[in-house]
Amino acid sequence: MPAAVLAAALSGPLALHGAIAQAETAYPAHAITLVVPFAAGGPTDVVARALGASMSKTLGQSIVVENRTGAGGTLAPAFVARAQPDGYTLLIHHNGMATAPALYRKLQYDPLKDFSYIGQVADVPMTVLARRDLPPDDLPGFIKYAREQGNKLNLANAGPGAVSQLCGMLLQEAIGTQFTTIPYAGTAPAMSALLGQQVDVLCDQTTQTIPQIKARHVKFYGVTTLERIKALPDAPTLQEGGLKGFEVKVWHGIYAPKGTPQAAIDKVNAALRTALKDPAFTQRMAELGAEIVPPEKQTPQGLQTWLQSETDKWGAMIRKAGVYAD
Ligand code: MLT
Repeated sequence: MPAAVLAAALSGPLALHGAIAQAETAYPAHAITLVVPFAAGGPTDVVARALGASMSKTLGQSIVVENRTGAGGTLAPAFVARAQPDGYTLLIHHNGMATAPALYRKLQYDPLKDFSYIGQVADVPMTVLARRDLPPDDLPGFIKYAREQGNKLNLANAGPGAVSQLCGMLLQEAIGTQFTTIPYAGTAPAMSALLGQQVDVLCDQTTQTIPQIKARHVKFYGVTTLERIKALPDAPTLQEGGLKGFEVKVWHGIYAPKGTPQAAIDKVNAALRTALKDPAFTQRMAELGAEIVPPEKQTPQGLQTWLQSETDKWGAMIRKAGVYAD
């Protein structure tokens, strides 16, 4: 075969191979979108923006946060599950990835099948708050008042699938009362309603509530962890206030659409693990009561295994309670 013909025959596959290799090494070549299922300014958004800022230093590209709210945080995962699996669309979500399959009988995605996993981020305690002029000053007083008032009290949350809904549901069950629920597109607008005295009660994450608690803009009845937390050392737990065994902890994972190239997953995971050691990120999280997860949870396998166990735990509980969102 003449040399020129041989060269032409080889250049096709070689050129293609070169282009793929270059695309893989070049990732990310432009900004990455990190989809947040709840409103801007709320707890998930706070974690997403601080994490995105830190990860972008390693990745050399911006991470742009996009808030796709609605349906208790289920619209965002549905969107990401159908996005191009090219590493440029990512999702941050919390316990809602484990509770939604039991709450929604017609869910548009399967958290255990439709995603590639990147890793977990941080665990966040919740706090029980009321508008600042609600009469009770402590949890025992609130429990008594809540039993007397029942559905005259309005409970704000971010819809079925949100942790504010989960925590509020467990709180009503533990107290033995039923409030009137008012859903919002996230706990940022729910907090605005609480500060504006339009609703009475909110169960929300410390990543949003600590500044409001410290400024005494709200009544604060306790944290939802079994032990007191460093960021609010004087605050009692709900267990200390009389709700034995009451515990809700919020965890966060980073996901990509199923089929995202392994090279992109590896790069995003490396940037995640670097961010989880970055003082700019870790100090901000510590001030807001969030605890960085241990290294074994910062991995794709660590997230996948945890999601499976949380899906089993909450799924069984929700199905037993017969609570459905649709
Ligand atoms: C938010 O970011 O608004 C909250 O995480 C919503 C929720 O309560 O789950």
